[in-house]
Amino acid sequence: MKWKNNLAGQPVWSGEISNRDRKEKVAQQVSRYVKDGDVIGIGSGSTSFLALEKIAERVEKEKLEILAVPTSKEAEMNCSYYGLTTTSLLNHQPDWGFDGADEVDGAQRLIKGRGGALFAEKLVMASAAKTYILVDESKHVERLGEKFAVPLEVDPRAIHLVETALQHFECHDIQLRMAAAKDGPVLTEAGNVLIDVRFHDIHDTLEKELSAIPGVIETGLFIGYSVEILTV
Ligand code: A5P
Repeated sequence: MKWKNNLAGQPVWSGEISNRDRKEKVAQQVSRYVKDGDVIGIGSGSTSFLALEKIAERVEKEKLEILAVPTSKEAEMNCSYYGLTTTSLLNHQPDWGFDGADEVDGAQRLIKGRGGALFAEKLVMASAAKTYILVDESKHVERLGEKFAVPLEVDPRAIHLVETALQHFECHDIQLRMAAAKDGPVLTEAGNVLIDVRFHDIHDTLEKELSAIPGVIETGLFIGYSVEILTV
C-alpha cells in the first residue's frame, strides 16, 4: 500500500533551481544512456535531481528495470518518490553513474560538495566504471577554485587539528559551514562537519595531501576519476 500523505506526494528539493532550462537539457541527455538492467549511481544536487526525474520518466514509460545507488538522503528519498529501487555499494557495483559539480576545469578536475554530499559522492564515483558529470556552462572555470571554496568533510573532534594543519598549505578563508535551517554547523550524513577552504593553487596532489591530515574524512576535490563531462 502506498502512503497518501502530503510529504509522500512531492519530491524532496529545497529551493529554486538556477539555470533550470540548461540543467534540464543535460538531464535529458543523460537519461538516454539508461539501459534495462543497469545499476546506476545517483548523484546529488539540483542537476542530478532533474536527471533522476527524466530517468524515472523513461523507466516508467519503457518498463525498464534498474537499480539506483543514491549518494545522499536527498537522492535516496527522491528515488523512493519516483519509484526507483535502491541498493547500496555493499550489494552492487554501479555500472555507471551521474552527478553534478560546482566547478570543472579544462583537465576535467572537479570541485564538488556544495550540497554536503561529497563523501558518498566520491565513494560512488570511485566504485563506478564511469560517471557522467552534468554541468551547465556556468560551472566551467579557467582555474579550479576560481569561484568555490574546497569543502573538507571533517570529524567534529578534529576541527582545530585540521585548521592547525592547514597553516602548512597556501590557503585562506577557512570557514566552518553553518546550517541555514538549524542552529550550529551543517552535519553531514556521516555526522561530520564541513570546513570550506579557499586555495590559491589547486595542484594535482592537493587532494591526497589534504586527505592525509588526520580528521579529514574526504575532500571536495575530484581529480583523476573516470568522468565524462556532459555540458550545455
Ligand atoms: C552535492 O554535494 C554537490 O556535489 C553537487 O553535485 C554540486 O554542488 C552541484 O550541484 P547543482 O547541480 O545543484 O549545481
